[in-house]
Amino acid sequence: MSIKKVISDYPKDFFNGKKVFIRVDFNVPINNEQNIIREDYRIRRAIPTIDFLIDSGAKVILGSHLGRPKGIVNDDLSLRIVSERLSELMGKKVFFCDDFKDKDWINKVDLLPNGSIVLLENLRFYKEETDNDESFSELLSSFCDIYVNEAFGTSHRAHASTYGMAKNFDTKLAGFLVNKELQFISEMLSKTNKPFVVIIGGSKIKDKISAMSKLLDRADKIIIAGGAAYTFIKANGGDIGNSIFEAEMIEWSRKVYTEYSDKIVLPVDHLVSESIEKTNSCLIVDDNIPDGYQAFDIGPKTIDLFNSIIKGPGSIFWNGPMGVFEVEKYSSGTIHVARAVALATWRGATSVVGGGETIAALRKAEVLESEISHMSTGGGALLEYIGGSSLPGIEILD
Ligand code: 3PG
Repeated sequence: MSIKKVISDYPKDFFNGKKVFIRVDFNVPINNEQNIIREDYRIRRAIPTIDFLIDSGAKVILGSHLGRPKGIVNDDLSLRIVSERLSELMGKKVFFCDDFKDKDWINKVDLLPNGSIVLLENLRFYKEETDNDESFSELLSSFCDIYVNEAFGTSHRAHASTYGMAKNFDTKLAGFLVNKELQFISEMLSKTNKPFVVIIGGSKIKDKISAMSKLLDRADKIIIAGGAAYTFIKANGGDIGNSIFEAEMIEWSRKVYTEYSDKIVLPVDHLVSESIEKTNSCLIVDDNIPDGYQAFDIGPKTIDLFNSIIKGPGSIFWNGPMGVFEVEKYSSGTIHVARAVALATWRGATSVVGGGETIAALRKAEVLESEISHMSTGGGALLEYIGGSSLPGIEILD
């Protein structure tokens, strides 16, 4: 049974001739120097919903964010490159609208034939998007007749396009991807096989704090690595050299570590270097990172330690890389974890892996989609949902 009304709950005729706004999450990793999309999983996963709607005779208007431009136009965060990729994948033209505040553009959309696809420029170029501004929501909703949420990865944000504008529609539906994500994760949560191992990497704790707080009780082990680990290590009095940490999270990390020291697993050695570029200055160090050095990956002892925990069966949830895996020299830890999660899945674990960077890491490790139980398009949203929070972008749907 679906948790929310899904587009396929309606006959195709229902969409014929209608303009449908689809909030997608095309926040994909991009290499601006090479002008390439590093990982397009989130784009490909939205295609069945786009296909269904254009086959039904709808005109589709896609809205997304890319990065966090904070209301400032930034060419590096333009969605134009994504519209080109989507055109290639769809085998048809995707119209790119770089200024939807220009009143003329909606007249142009009206002239497009049914089945057309339009992608709007990065919605976060407008501060009103993240402010969930009412008139901005009204403007966005004035373009369309039906609202569809296909942005599972952004459903934890109560922004104008994920939440505010949806209120203005009589019909607000889940896309296929959102439906699949909700079904899989809800089922996993209703019967979480033990042990439940959570792996948190990436650089920021602050974004993950509420989910982590909830997961600490549910999980049997929480592995914390990547940049997030150094806040914990510093909070426990460790020397972290120049490694990144979040000063404002030190107190919280100390408190949490004291309370859950039996569950939290931190790296025990590190691959450090003088700077990200100086790959020839790499050292492996145990506890204390020397001054002038920064950690960019976990070390071999940590890889062994994590492998001994990520074994399966049970349930595994992973979000966030172990280091700067985009750089070959710092990719070993993340690749080992990706392969350990795949192997644990073969041994019967239910594995959920989410987040743009984490999916890119699976690809780099040459782990196949079939070797992971569920590859989620959500990072922070997935964490929130697994932690038991309700997601505003989902709550608002029919
Ligand atoms: C993500 O990548 O997790 C989503 O696209 C949400 O992005 P945000 O954390 O910048 O809101």
